Amino acid sequence: MTGSTAATPIGIHDLAITTTHYVVELDDLANAYGTDPAKFRLGLGQDQFSFPAPDEDIVTMAAAAAKQIIDRNGSQGLRTVIFATESGVDQSKAAAVPVQRLLGLPHEVRVVEMKQACYAGTAALQSALGIVSRNPGERVLVITSDVARYQLDSPGEPTQGAGAVAMLVSADPALLAIEPAAGVYTADIDDFWRPNDSTTAVVDGKLSMSAYLDAMAGAWDDLQAQGGPAIDDIDRVLYHQPFTKMAKKAQAHLAKLTGAALDLALPGDTADENARDTGLATGTLYNRRLGNSYTASLFAGLAALLHHDSDLAGKRVALFSYGSGSVSEVLTGVVQPGYFDADASARFSAVLDARETITIEAYRKLHATERASAEDYVNEVVSKAPFRFTGVSAQARQYESA
Ligand code: CAA
Repeated sequence: MTGSTAATPIGIHDLAITTTHYVVELDDLANAYGTDPAKFRLGLGQDQFSFPAPDEDIVTMAAAAAKQIIDRNGSQGLRTVIFATESGVDQSKAAAVPVQRLLGLPHEVRVVEMKQACYAGTAALQSALGIVSRNPGERVLVITSDVARYQLDSPGEPTQGAGAVAMLVSADPALLAIEPAAGVYTADIDDFWRPNDSTTAVVDGKLSMSAYLDAMAGAWDDLQAQGGPAIDDIDRVLYHQPFTKMAKKAQAHLAKLTGAALDLALPGDTADENARDTGLATGTLYNRRLGNSYTASLFAGLAALLHHDSDLAGKRVALFSYGSGSVSEVLTGVVQPGYFDADASARFSAVLDARETITIEAYRKLHATERASAEDYVNEVVSKAPFRFTGVSAQARQYESA
């Protein structure tokens, strides 16, 4: 790697995704709640959501995703780990600190946790790009990991989920070179938030959807003002996906804003022959099985696209990020030659298939279990993941390798 020049491409060199031990089938939830299953499958565009076992949390998922990156790339040049999450497990200590130990990373790393609802992963990525721009010999591990939890019996419940995506950001990246122009938009709005004493989010669902669309329009306009690419120069478009139907709504909004004919078909829908396929359906393939994974959701969409579309080399991808509260950003990147890993989709599909289906009765019982931070406890071994949240001792969360 060479010294700092404006021309050095910087971006995502490697990406890995993981999820939880349990899965909730939305057909089961619909049947138990007396809801038409079509509301979840078609109305929300969701089939399932991942749900953590008691010995899993954002740290165990993050470490499991990041381990794949370290196993493939080593830790040479890695001096920063940025952990983005909405579902932080401590008010003070960054979730990246136990990840440093679990992965056996050198002590000579700076680690930090970033927060701004589902947007924080994009902020982490931008920070990583800045660090690598300053010193192209360094690499930054960005981890997005979340457990999306809403109250039982609330409208948000079928849009829960969990997952983690880890990314290695470097100069001369092998996957996606991020372009310099980005569009950003911030507006103070109470559409979704999680008070300090609550394990579930407070949400105004309808407001959150309109806030999402308004913010993405603001970010798009800013991208244009910053000299970013026009819609006709963008080949694929990915969105934050609280549920996959929201990506379709966002795509319809972008089509209206730009006047472009963009295909609105989700998997199972008939594609419009007169509209341009921008990868909407492909980008939703994992999220409709993971559910919402907050900070990881947009990057799970990127994983699905890169794993399933073998014709992306040299193509430009736009990524729309949205975090309630609210901050939105759209950035673009160019997919690098040799990015395609023909086995990747089968590998992650096997992970999704291997999840254990939890009954609605057992899921509700686990969901309702709230443990006070002052209480010491030992978690039973359930997860087969490489790292476990073993319990709480003297008020501190304990983690170990399996
Ligand atoms: N067959 C087919 N479709 C059906 C149906 C049936 N039997 N019954 C209902 N539907 C459709 C509805 O028409 C609707 O589709 P459209 O929006 O396209 O019209 C869809 O199913 C949902 O139905 P409702 O609007 O009645 O659903 P709801 O009021 O129960 O809740 C929700 C929907 C507001 C999204 C709720 O799930 C929620 O609050 N979720 C959490 C908040 C959220 O995800 N917000 C998204 C933007 S904020 C964000 O992106 C940040 C983040 O990650 C949280």
